Amino acid sequence: MTTLEKRSPAKVNLLLNILGKRSDGFHALETVFHPVQICDHLQFTTAPSGIALTCNHPELPTDTTNLVHRAASQFFATARLTAGVRIHLEKKLPLAAGLGGGSANAATTLLALNELFDHPLGPSELGAMASTLGSDVNFFLQPHPALATGRGEMIMPLPEFAALRNTVFLLIHPGFGIATPWAYRELARFPTAQNGQPGRAAQLITALQTGPLTAAAPFFYNSLEAPALEKFPVLRLYQEFLCEHGAHVALMSGSGSTTFAIFPAADAAAAAAERFQSRFGDNHWQAIVPVAFA
Ligand code: C5P
Repeated sequence: MTTLEKRSPAKVNLLLNILGKRSDGFHALETVFHPVQICDHLQFTTAPSGIALTCNHPELPTDTTNLVHRAASQFFATARLTAGVRIHLEKKLPLAAGLGGGSANAATTLLALNELFDHPLGPSELGAMASTLGSDVNFFLQPHPALATGRGEMIMPLPEFAALRNTVFLLIHPGFGIATPWAYRELARFPTAQNGQPGRAAQLITALQTGPLTAAAPFFYNSLEAPALEKFPVLRLYQEFLCEHGAHVALMSGSGSTTFAIFPAADAAAAAAERFQSRFGDNHWQAIVPVAFA
């Protein structure tokens, strides 16, 4: 019996530009992913057979619908292994948050099982499995910021962005989630947002690589804010408040509902978080996470 422990990180989308609906029902997009080092924890223990998943979060099903379960079952089938595993998921990240929690759990499971069973699968097999599990899963197979295209599964790793050196993310989850399929479905009512022009990602990447964050700030963008901020206008108030209190950028991540703001230093982020609480109440999930450089 062998045990392996893994951290399963989060992401924010510094940019999410949707380029139109495809014939398979997914949307073509360009997105700039950035890892965020606030993590769920996963523990894997080899077993003679079967997949048994437990989780500390009461609302997350642990049956075969769970992405961790699906990842493990695909791994054993593709690797043609008859072994089994016991998995415990300790959830720290909120659900339906736009932070990629479930996708990261799936990617972490693929990587961990491959390690636990002596690497039966190569990167291309892991990549193929990841894309069947979800559009964001491929990003979490690697640790770098990245440009993603296709429906989000085609990953081009990028060097650390100079403009983000020494900066800090403040994440705020409003206490309600937004379901990704809802956000994409509602986007149909906003044709301009649904049919963006490609090239915004390149503009943001160049700005983050060559100048200060203040110069890059206007290039941060998320098409899915169109439906989300219409239904939940309080998210726009969060952004305005955070920018008035020292954030260089404040944007919704992915399909929401988390807002992320970027501050020049941890003390500025902490001060803004405190003021945010006195303005909007303390029933939010908040995290202050330094932008990590390898
Ligand atoms: O791929 P994932 O499981 O994360 O997608 C969840 C849902 O989000 C899809 O079923 C689809 O409705 C929508 N989606 C989309 N276009 C993408 C990614 C997701 O329409 N590129």
